[in-house]
Amino acid sequence: MTILLLGSGGREHAFAWKMIQSPLCETLFVAPGNAGTAAIATNVAMNPNDFDTVAKFVLDNNVKMVVVGPEDPLVNGIVDYFKNREDLKDIAVIGPSQQGAALEGSKEFAKQFMVRHNIPTAGYDSFTAETVEQGCEFLETLSAPYVLKADGLAAGKGVLIIDNLAEAKTELRNMLIDAKFGNASSKVVIEEFLDGIELSCFVMTDGKSYKILPTAKDYKRIGEGDTGLNTGGMGAISPVPFATPLLMQKIEDRIVKPTVDGLAKDNIDYRGFIFIGLIIVKGEPIVIEYNVRMGDPETEVVIPRIQSDLVGLFHAIGSQSLALSSVEIDARSAATIMLVSGGYPEDFAKGKEITGIDSVAIEDALIFQAGTKAEGDKVLSNGGRVIAVTAFGENIDEAIKKSYQNINKISFDKMYYRKDIGFDLFKE
Ligand code: AMP
Ligand code: GLY
Repeated sequence: MTILLLGSGGREHAFAWKMIQSPLCETLFVAPGNAGTAAIATNVAMNPNDFDTVAKFVLDNNVKMVVVGPEDPLVNGIVDYFKNREDLKDIAVIGPSQQGAALEGSKEFAKQFMVRHNIPTAGYDSFTAETVEQGCEFLETLSAPYVLKADGLAAGKGVLIIDNLAEAKTELRNMLIDAKFGNASSKVVIEEFLDGIELSCFVMTDGKSYKILPTAKDYKRIGEGDTGLNTGGMGAISPVPFATPLLMQKIEDRIVKPTVDGLAKDNIDYRGFIFIGLIIVKGEPIVIEYNVRMGDPETEVVIPRIQSDLVGLFHAIGSQSLALSSVEIDARSAATIMLVSGGYPEDFAKGKEITGIDSVAIEDALIFQAGTKAEGDKVLSNGGRVIAVTAFGENIDEAIKKSYQNINKISFDKMYYRKDIGFDLFKE
């Protein structure tokens, strides 16, 4: 089968690496891809949000399956676009419909969904420019810190956590009246702050049944000790040591099952991944967000731990026969460390030559490229997050150590990485 994978990050390199191991995958195209995907598949210079161009490519190249990595084509309705065209409707597109993607595309929609289906989530209310004064009054009823969330997609930057009431009111006005996040903040969800530990749960669903994938935890802040600006993610580990069987059972019973059943009850076509962001408060899981795709860099630790044929699982998702499949998981732990361009997540330089990738032996670590591009024989940096180095170990500690050992072989000008990934897992 010929498959098209949409996206260009470390997540997509990890997907591509896994997909080409499947006997079901004859040809893999990645659009637009990066230097890592170019080395193992065929990159296509195409914008995943340009559906007419994607459709033409699919028809011209006899593509039978489209796997969507990032959220924006999903939120923009790529699944519905394929379903609504007679010549494309039989092609399996792995990802939710536009309505399903609203779980990520609109925080308010996600909150209403959770309330409707009795899924535990932080208390909230939502406001627009017309109701900004009520929003300020609502803030007064809460205690610090205050959580403000832009309703729409804001490239991971739309959540503000503010300690001071006056500042929270100012930011609420900035979001609603001065369009701080553009149209994404024309509506703002104000949420109760949850004090607990974060955990991500990844689910694969065909809309009828589901499989829970390995848990993972990412490290979002740029600085050591979880300080400084938020990033797309500086590293991740899997499994999460505190995700005990008891906690996982609560998550499945109270959150995963009601989510999949709720989608079916609401007649929402959903065949793809659900990434559930949780905060565990005194042992009880509470949802803080849904994403309608896999996480990045969580994918770089979750996918390598899946031993089953990923394309086979995608096929089962597309044909709604996932209940008949099983997902085998590698018992070892995995860790990934992100190498980023100095300056990220603010200004940084691109086009720096990366050396040493080939000196990392495959049995030592997996190199998943993110913001890279090939130029002749060279690999150049082409983004903030550049390379994820994933290693396995008998436990998390060993996996992290192995990942760091292999990072030493790679370099580029102003390369930066956090040296403390996993730091919080080992303290008493
Ligand atoms: P999100 O963009 O929804 O992933 O949120 C970004 C981060 O904000 C999360 O990873 C949490 O650390 C934090 N966060 C979001 N909602 C809450 C909440 N209700 N209480 C505490 N922290 C939150
Ligand atoms: N690592 C967080 C995300 O993918 O949203």
